[in-house]
Amino acid sequence: MRVLGIETSCDETGVAIYDSRQGLLAHALYSQVAMHAEYGGVVPELASRDHVRKTIPLIEKVMFEAKCTSQDIDGVAYTAGPGLIGALLVGATIGRSIGFAWNVPAVGVHHMEGHLLAPMLEPDPPEFPFVALLVSGGHTQLVKVTRMGQYDILGESVDDAVGEAFDKTAKLLGLGYPGGAVLAKLAEQGDPKRFHFPRPMIDRPGLEFSFSGLKTFAVNTAHKYGLDLQTKADIARAFQDAVVETLVIKCRRALRETGWKTLVVAGGVGANIALRSQLTDMLQKEGGKVFFPRMEFCTDNGAMIAYVGCQKLLAGEKTELAIEVFPRWPLSDLSSSRNS
Ligand code: KG4
Ligand code: ZN
Repeated sequence: MRVLGIETSCDETGVAIYDSRQGLLAHALYSQVAMHAEYGGVVPELASRDHVRKTIPLIEKVMFEAKCTSQDIDGVAYTAGPGLIGALLVGATIGRSIGFAWNVPAVGVHHMEGHLLAPMLEPDPPEFPFVALLVSGGHTQLVKVTRMGQYDILGESVDDAVGEAFDKTAKLLGLGYPGGAVLAKLAEQGDPKRFHFPRPMIDRPGLEFSFSGLKTFAVNTAHKYGLDLQTKADIARAFQDAVVETLVIKCRRALRETGWKTLVVAGGVGANIALRSQLTDMLQKEGGKVFFPRMEFCTDNGAMIAYVGCQKLLAGEKTELAIEVFPRWPLSDLSSSRNS
């Protein structure tokens, strides 16, 4: 089965073609980051309009690269939520309409299920069951994945998502928006011994996270010590060390609680080098293995949507002709809908 996948939930237009036998045939991405940067955050209306401009040219590009005509496509997948409603509606309308026009089934995909299963696109994919750490701009969750479609939330952030905390801290350090990756780069030059930030909620049992206090800690440190270049790097380092160590501790706890040995990391913060290396070390010590998507598929992309859409279509799922999107859509809802 060959599936065209479309991702437009936020500020990236991603399109890809996935074939169940041959794997990923082509993918293309257009990021709106530069357009939103001057506003210091994503402007929903501008995002929708830009998806309108970019989605169809990107579909033409991947169809050309994969040497496909409409006859070669067996199904269409699009992100149906969660995300910005206008942005979602663009991808859903285009995806559903193409399915209708080409007379193939179309299916709405959960954006976080896409992130969660992005490591399946790699040559050495993880096997079920596994614990997944989803770390993006909008989510921080530990998920128990028994099989495809069975997702139980073990714990999540009670306040800011980890990517959001990276971005807010980056903003106060004057690193622009979204500054997560820039902060991570700057942290490499920071002195790990100068400041020590707390590891939130590690003394309590459970698998919840809280990251908003770290941002306040960064503000207070900046007020006290100023913001010269070295101090910025030292704050970035202290912030990142605290976040990474907290995530590692909670992942270890989740693995021990489930008794499982496989960890999957996904979402934009999964691109963080310090997090990748410390999780790899921890899993080695625990006698398990950690799986990451390739760097470019940590952040939003069409490939993960095409992959999940293909699995759903192969399982006989499809979405009717009505165009429906879900700006708020808990991942755990998927388990109940597929069990019913
Ligand atoms: O998954 P994603 O592309 O979008 C959402 O669905 O939210 O994640 C974007 C988030 C942003 O907050 C961004 O700052 C963060 O991932 N991010 C990073 C790094 N690269 C991207 N955070 C820390 N270190 C990085 N290297
Ligand atoms: Zn995302």
